[in-house]
Amino acid sequence: MDELRVRVPAFAKLNLTLLVLDKRTDGFHELRTVFQTIALHDSLEIEFQRARRTRLSIESSVDIPGDNLIIRAAEAVLAELKIKAEVRFRLEKRIPMGGGLGGGSSDAAATLLALPVMMGRAVAAERLSALALELGSDVPFFLEGGTALGLGRGEELYSLPELPETPVLLACSGIHVPTGQAFADLQRQPATGLTSPIHHNRMKRFQSLVAGVVCPESSSDWMSLSENDFEAAVFSRFPQLATFRQLLMDRGGLLARLSGSGSTVFGLFRTAAVRDRAARRLTQDRSDVQWVATTLLPRNQFRRAWRRSLAPARKRLGPSAKDYGWIA
Ligand code: C5P
Repeated sequence: MDELRVRVPAFAKLNLTLLVLDKRTDGFHELRTVFQTIALHDSLEIEFQRARRTRLSIESSVDIPGDNLIIRAAEAVLAELKIKAEVRFRLEKRIPMGGGLGGGSSDAAATLLALPVMMGRAVAAERLSALALELGSDVPFFLEGGTALGLGRGEELYSLPELPETPVLLACSGIHVPTGQAFADLQRQPATGLTSPIHHNRMKRFQSLVAGVVCPESSSDWMSLSENDFEAAVFSRFPQLATFRQLLMDRGGLLARLSGSGSTVFGLFRTAAVRDRAARRLTQDRSDVQWVATTLLPRNQFRRAWRRSLAPARKRLGPSAKDYGWIA
């Protein structure tokens, strides 16, 4: 097969709400969250060619510390499909790293989504999700995008109705919050098997929030029920993040929260005009912070962007396209 080149988007996510319940026997924490993709994205260019020997390489617009999830994702797909290939990646990073926006996870998921289509060999959806989870707890979400309820480690996913393309402003301060440390700081007790009584009311609140997202005309205003369990510990370590949250609210935010374990703080706004005015003022007042304007990204747009970017590879699939699910 000839060389094939595509450029795919790896969208960032927010946690519209995030509860950390007990610590499980596998060392991970039981989560209750609502994931939401946003339009902010990294761009990943992929060149693929079958070869006698596998060679993977990556160029990136910024240095990525530690082992690269894109390479690990590519190795997983090649092993799964028993294919040898030369694959070159070029990553244009726009999502701040270590910022609770899932950038590294999304890059990995983008690799898992694109490579099978480029290789002309489908991987079953459940298998792809299992490979994704081996790479990280929030990687499976990025295989679907949109608005989704996340349970378990975050891999048990249920699609929710799409929220409108709400304007968003992100406060990106460059502070790095290590995820494992943020979980450890919460000092959660091991699970006893039943929902601990201390979590009971919080679970009710979470259910009301989900009901509010599912049914916008219901009495529960989901934004007023949003919370993030990392805020107390992370804000006490980095008090400036609490300030950013307050600034976003003071400048007209409907809701402002830490995303994931931080450090990005996001604000949701009623209109793009209010958000843009807030962005201008905040850029003047706090030029030490990068204020990034974006919007919530509904699933249909997530999918449209993916299908468009994979068009050159999809053309080659022919009648087998149906094996690839929504992407083909
Ligand atoms: O799965 P991921 O690699 O993103 O997780 C990073 C770290 O965050 C894990 O090693 C674990 O310490 C913590 N974590 C957790 N419970 C989760 C997700 C992550 O304790 N549900």
